[in-house]
Amino acid sequence: MYYSDDVIEEVRSRNDIVDVISGYVKLQRKGSSYFGLCPFHSEKSPSFSVSPGKQMYYCFGCGAGGNVLTFIMEYENFTFPEALKLLADRAGMALPEPEYSDEARRQRDLKESVREINKMAANYFYYQLRSPQGERALKYLTDRGLSDQTIKRFGLGYAGQYSDALYRYLKGKDISDQLLKESGLMQVNEKQGMYDKFWNRVMFPIMDVNNKVIGFGGRVMGDGKPKYLNSPETVIFDKSRNLYGLNYARTAKKRYMLVCEGYMDVISMHQAGFTNAVASLGTALTSQHATLLKRYTDEVILTYDSDEAGIRAALRAIPLLKEAGISTKVLHMEPYKDPDEFIKALGTEAFQERIDRAENSFLFEVSVLQKSYDMKDPDGKTRFFQAVAAKIAEFELEIERENYIEAITGRYQISFEGLRKMVANVLMQGVSARRVQPVRQQARPEKEDGIRKSQRLILTWITEYPQLFDVISRYIQPEDFSDELYCEVATMLYDQRKKGTVNPAQIINHFTDPEQQRSVAQLFNTDVKVGNPKEMEKAVRETIYKVVEYTIDQKSHALDPADMKGLQELVNAKRRLQEILRLHISL
Ligand code: UTP
Ligand code: MN
Repeated sequence: MYYSDDVIEEVRSRNDIVDVISGYVKLQRKGSSYFGLCPFHSEKSPSFSVSPGKQMYYCFGCGAGGNVLTFIMEYENFTFPEALKLLADRAGMALPEPEYSDEARRQRDLKESVREINKMAANYFYYQLRSPQGERALKYLTDRGLSDQTIKRFGLGYAGQYSDALYRYLKGKDISDQLLKESGLMQVNEKQGMYDKFWNRVMFPIMDVNNKVIGFGGRVMGDGKPKYLNSPETVIFDKSRNLYGLNYARTAKKRYMLVCEGYMDVISMHQAGFTNAVASLGTALTSQHATLLKRYTDEVILTYDSDEAGIRAALRAIPLLKEAGISTKVLHMEPYKDPDEFIKALGTEAFQERIDRAENSFLFEVSVLQKSYDMKDPDGKTRFFQAVAAKIAEFELEIERENYIEAITGRYQISFEGLRKMVANVLMQGVSARRVQPVRQQARPEKEDGIRKSQRLILTWITEYPQLFDVISRYIQPEDFSDELYCEVATMLYDQRKKGTVNPAQIINHFTDPEQQRSVAQLFNTDVKVGNPKEMEKAVRETIYKVVEYTIDQKSHALDPADMKGLQELVNAKRRLQEILRLHISL
């Protein structure tokens, strides 16, 4: 779906960022910016800034940032067109018809219809639950301890005893069989034709983060099989990208999220005040789930069932979460099976206590590992500690390794020095079970990092101090920015400066991926703490120097020794480099 740059820019410029964000976050003016508590991570003192001048926001705590469109995408979890629509409406602007290809239009229409049908079904089930036929279902739910308010909040319902009730209801609304088939709510067989997938079950609508119904889980009332039936995947229901309860959990603003196995667990926890609980949808946790969670939190507490299957599920989830940059703990529910039963038996406070005592995921893995060794046998013990040492060797930082060695020493019969030597051996042999680390976690060489920071500073200064552009652009060109993204942004920024007005928020429009928008926002919000103008002038001189010096370094590495002309240029460049340190800079 395409909108022209002009349309996007008009929508953006008609929505003042301070106005828009004030609707979501309490902002206070401080100097030329506004500050508030960041809605994207939990914090006690405000590091979330909104700049009316740049029409951008940036959080110095978590690095979230972008323009007004980014904000709506991130906060509401909207797609780009959805955010554009919201802001266009807000500004009273009619968007032109987007340019769809025929296929894209067909897909969009199909999705819209399937959404509509799922919404109608949710309403239908909801009313059935409250009708005389729904009496037994309502009793089932209240007997399980759910309050009226909880039943309402989760939109629970009842699919009546006839296997064609929903079908007839939807037919009465003139919906074609073709669409009904796509909705995931019907089953077809040759003899009976089309009939309801769900009947005589209590219904749990599954909502996406925007509170739109995308599918259902349905439970038998009692012991029938299967216990739960779930909607199949449809054009709007992707099980590996949605989590039950996330629509509420994402606004819970707790430091961590509770991840459990079942619908009822989520509901019980929410009812008990743990509104940061989510569950995967009758499937194992996927790496997409982990990425989704990472948008809202850095820490997950797994509250999986305390049986064999729950332990296996936890062991599978831990590395996926780690890969996404989430640290994980494991909550122990013994002697109860799941959070629902635990809370019913021991109550909220006891559950909170278990949360506070949740086990570090590494130590959890080790304790599971231990079960497969015979610790009474000296050889078994040795092999166990060798396995532990190999796992510890996977940690990148020495301090991490030492902390884990210490933790293990506290729990198992081995001395700190003993285990440390074993870990050192593993590291030396390089035979650790080292998994390939994701790129994100690999430390960049410091020099590289420093130079990128200097380059970001230059871009921020060009935006904030028009008077610096002349001198900066005398020495630094867009090509000098080593990162592709930086270079692209620099090109646009230089262009804008030359034309007279700088508009960083417009530059962000050119990037549609929120991750990129965030990186671009960082480019415009890099700062150094400098006390007075003299220090600032010094910082500017030194930063220009560093950036230019780096370019010269790069060029001289790449220089062909036979290239006399290139050599001469380098000599000139080095001479000019000295000039920079004597530059007169005035702010
Ligand atoms: P559990 O069997 O642990 O059920 O399944 P539960 O959550 O404790 O349910 P109650 O308390 O008996 O009502 C956990 C999750 O696995 C999926 C469902 O998503 C369920 O919430 N599941 C389970 C199915 O999809 N189908 C089944 O037949 C059973
Ligand atoms: Mn249960």
